[in-house]
Formats: sequence, C-alpha cells, structure tokens
Amino acid sequence: MIYKKTLGAPEKFVPTAFAPAPAVDICAMPDDISEKIRFCVSKRGTVLTLPLGTDTAVYGFGLQMKAINHRGNKITLRCNADPKAGAGDSHAPVPFFVTNEGWGLYVDTARSAVFYCGSELNKGLHSADFEKFSESEFIDNTGDLYADKTRENAAMTIEVPFAQGVDIYYITGERIVDIVAQYNMLGSGGCLPPDWGLGNYYRCCGRFNEDEVLEMAQSIREQKIPCSVLGLEPGWQTRAYSCSYLWSEKFKNHTELIKKLKGMGFEINLWEHFFVHPTAPVFDKLLPYSCDYYVWHGLVPDLSVPEAQEIYASHQRTLVQEGITGFKLDECDGSDFTGGWSYPDCAQFPSGMDGEQYHHLSGMLGAQTLLRALGDTPTYSEIRSLGALCSSYPFVLYSDLYDFKDYLTAVINSGFSGLLWSPEVRRCSSKSDLLRRLQLVVFSAQSLVNAWNYDHQPWLDFDASEDVRQLFEMREKLIPYIRQAFVRYRDEGIPPVRGLICDYPEALHTEDEYIFGDMIVAPIAPEHDSREIWLPDGEWEGLFDKEVYFGGLHTVKTENIPVFYRKGFSPFEK
Ligand code: GAL
Repeated sequence: MIYKKTLGAPEKFVPTAFAPAPAVDICAMPDDISEKIRFCVSKRGTVLTLPLGTDTAVYGFGLQMKAINHRGNKITLRCNADPKAGAGDSHAPVPFFVTNEGWGLYVDTARSAVFYCGSELNKGLHSADFEKFSESEFIDNTGDLYADKTRENAAMTIEVPFAQGVDIYYITGERIVDIVAQYNMLGSGGCLPPDWGLGNYYRCCGRFNEDEVLEMAQSIREQKIPCSVLGLEPGWQTRAYSCSYLWSEKFKNHTELIKKLKGMGFEINLWEHFFVHPTAPVFDKLLPYSCDYYVWHGLVPDLSVPEAQEIYASHQRTLVQEGITGFKLDECDGSDFTGGWSYPDCAQFPSGMDGEQYHHLSGMLGAQTLLRALGDTPTYSEIRSLGALCSSYPFVLYSDLYDFKDYLTAVINSGFSGLLWSPEVRRCSSKSDLLRRLQLVVFSAQSLVNAWNYDHQPWLDFDASEDVRQLFEMREKLIPYIRQAFVRYRDEGIPPVRGLICDYPEALHTEDEYIFGDMIVAPIAPEHDSREIWLPDGEWEGLFDKEVYFGGLHTVKTENIPVFYRKGFSPFEK
C-alpha cells in the first residue's frame, strides 16, 4: 500500500510535478503511521523524524556505489559524478529508501536532502532512560564503557533544506521487492526496451571519422560478435563541449554511413549533452529559456519549460529523421570534485527553479526531451543522471568511474530506486579484467562496451574475440528471457535487476550477488578464479555448468560467471 501525507507547504519544483502519472492507488495516511512521523519547519527547512528499529537495515537512495545497507550512515543526496565515499553523492540520487521491516519512504523533493539513517535519540521522539543512567554504578570495564547504545531507539532524521513542507509517501509491503515495485508504479511502472536494446552495444572511439566507424562495424561483423547498436562519441559533432548538434566534416557522408550501418543491422546512438554551443541552430531560440550561467561557454536550457523542451527536441528530431534511434545524454550530473564544471546550485532558471533543484530534475527532463524528439521511435538510450520516479524512462545510467566492486554495488543498488545501470567495459588491464567485467556487463541492464577513448576493440589486446563472442551470444540468447523480466517491470514495477535481499530476507549479509530476471548471479572479480556463493533454499541449476546446487554456501571455481536458475526453470524454456 502507498500512503501519502502532505506536511506543511511543499515546494513547487518537486519530482511529482514532472513525473508521469502514477499507475497505482495512493491512499491517505492512517493515524497509526502518521503518529510515528514527526515534522517541523525551521530556518534550516523541513525536518522529519521516524523511529528506526535496532536492527533495521536501510537500502536505496539511488545509484549509490559505495555501500548497500546505509544503516548508521549520514546520506546527503548530492547529484555528483564522483562519489568518493558512501555519503550519498551519486550520478542519480533518489530520496527513497526501503527497510527490511516492511516499509519504505519516498520524500518528494528536488533538494539535496540529508538522511541520518540511525541518528541519536531525538528528545521529542523518545525519552532517554535517565533514571537508569543515574542509578547505575560507575563503569568498571571497557565493554560497557564503549557499548554502542545508538542503535537502540534510534531514528531516521531527514532534513529537506529550504522547504517549508514536503509530500511523503509511506509504502508498505511484505518483501523489499513488493515495496520497490510499488515505488516504481508510483512513477508509472518500468520501461520496456525494444529487443535490439537488450542485445549488445559498442561505442566507437570519439576520434574516428566515418570510414573508421564503418571499418569498426565491418570488423565486428567479420568476427561474428553479436552487436545491435553502435554509438558515436563527441567527434560526430562540429563542437562537443558545449554541443553544436551538427555533423562534423569527418562525417560529411553521414547519411550514407547511417544507411550502410542500418543495412548491416546496427542501430545508431549519438552522444551529446544539453549544454548548447553558440553555433548550434537552436542557440538563439533557447537563449531566453536558459539559466544565468554558461557551461563550457554554452547555454543551459530550462527543459522544465515546455517551449524550451520543444525547441531542443525539434533539432534532435532532425537526427531521428536521419535514422538515429538513441542518444547518450552525458554530463547532466555535474561534479563537485573535478574542476567544478556545470552550473552552481545558486543558478537561476527561467521557470523559477534554482541550480540545486535543476541538478536533481535535469536527468528526468533530459530524458523526456529526447523521448519527445524520438516520438514513436523505440529507444533504449543512455544518460548520466536521473532522479526520483524515473523507472518508466528507457535510459540506462553509466559512469566514468571504473572500480569493479563499485560497479557491482551499483548493479545491486540501481534496483532499489527504479534505475537501470550498465557496468560498461572500457580499457582493461588483462584478459581476466576484460572477461570478468564483460561477464558482469552481459548480466546487467545493458550490455555495453564503451571504447570511446580506444581506437581498437579492447578484446584485441588479449586475443579474446572468441571469449567475447561466446559471452555476447549468451546475451543474445537471453533476450526473450530479459524481455519477460522487463514486461514485469513495466506492468508490476518489479526491477529486472535487483539485490538478493529484495526477494530473500535471509540474504541480509550477501551483498555481492544479485537477481537477474529470476536467476541468481554471483560475479567473480577480475584476477580471481573462484568465490563463495550463497543460494536460497531449494534446488538450483548452474546456467553454464548445468550442475545441481542446493540452498546454502558453496565454493565455485569457474572461468564463467556463476549464474543459477531454479531447477526446472531454465531461462531458455518458454
Ligand atoms: C564522458 C563519458 C564517457 C565518454 C566521454 C567522451 O563524460 O562519461 O563515456 O562519452 O565523456 O568525451
């Protein structure tokens, strides 16, 4: 069930003001839930406090890459491309969390809200046991001296800066997956990509000209490596930082190139961002609809204004008419640690939004704008930032970071917040690095090799074409199965890729395996050849080795990725 309550006077620019209509019933919050939630407004903004049980685990907050259970942490939901620790910075921060005790909470804000996931006692909420304290004798052992009392009677304290109120959605359900599914339906359900989007992607080197792109396409076909989408990186444009959206001299015959690539069975995806260069055909028209800061000497259009959205989309539509079926909307997150590019939080947008709010909403607005340009053309595109209530957009997140563990953490965490994530493969340091990464990629929301800065296929460094072919063939073979998982995402909100804890509460401590469709995936890290896996009760069959496994712990040694389905439920059977 989803229960909504309006506290105080919520701000105008919040995710629900722009998100698609909910596909789920929303009820008024009953008293027994309302009573648990304390609310006040101060000069710091809105503060909410809810009790948190001693052992309550806390998941979500968007595409977090450094931690899975956030219990005990202070999470500041800043939109930032360079998270350094589990403190909330994220490409795609989402003010929604879910607990392992049957409830979750969505806070409808586009502010960089702060969540203290297990803060100290709040006097208004609980009274500390003063009597007990005064009676107690002096402490004579270090165990009692250092005893951590903060977990008992703790609270979830939430600060929403500036806001004089906020709408909250309290979601209940038996398992975590039931709660997350409802959150996704609040955002209109999940997306359903076209079948080609569920196949394999290759992004070509940004320095390539049209002949080199064609040669790359031919070489992929000659090696018989299944691949359905080719991506062109910044070099397709005359200007890229900021963007002109005009084909460069290097792509003089781009119409011909598009025809040839399509003839070879490729869909084509174009890199861009929404910072508009003065030579872009839409620059003058967008000028009155842009914020008061430039980024890379380009305009930052206010895509929350329908006129601006249409002007931007109108030019992208000409690219769609040429045969483009996808975009990679880069740089819409911003970074606080690498040079300070992007507009500041104090930026003012014509709609009345400030930069902080736009950072939280621009992924959603960018996706909407590109979908507007694509019209009826199905897509499965890429984007570097999203936020709350974005499950229905067929856009997959990616990053410039590259740590294997962080990428696996993001695979798991994306599923708590209505997001899709690609742990893309780029340059690799060894054959093991390449293949272990690719195994994770093939069992993720988007199977992508991003060679944007590499003039040859990364597998040629290690004579690994045959291994790559086999893995990409596995992905192709799984398309009908993955499609079914996405149908459930669209209709019921069940994430196609999600943490084990979503379905199996007993998996509290298993944070390096995940569910793909209904299979269990336990990736092996680069430079390793075995690992310990945990399987839920019952009989399971290995996807690669066909062995039968029973619930419990196993040590598995394999060159493949350990993937298991419930005995009798092979992903290849209808
Ligand atoms: C980065 C992006 C990379 C690549 C590169 C091209 O911002 O994350 O994937 O597209 O730009 O300049």
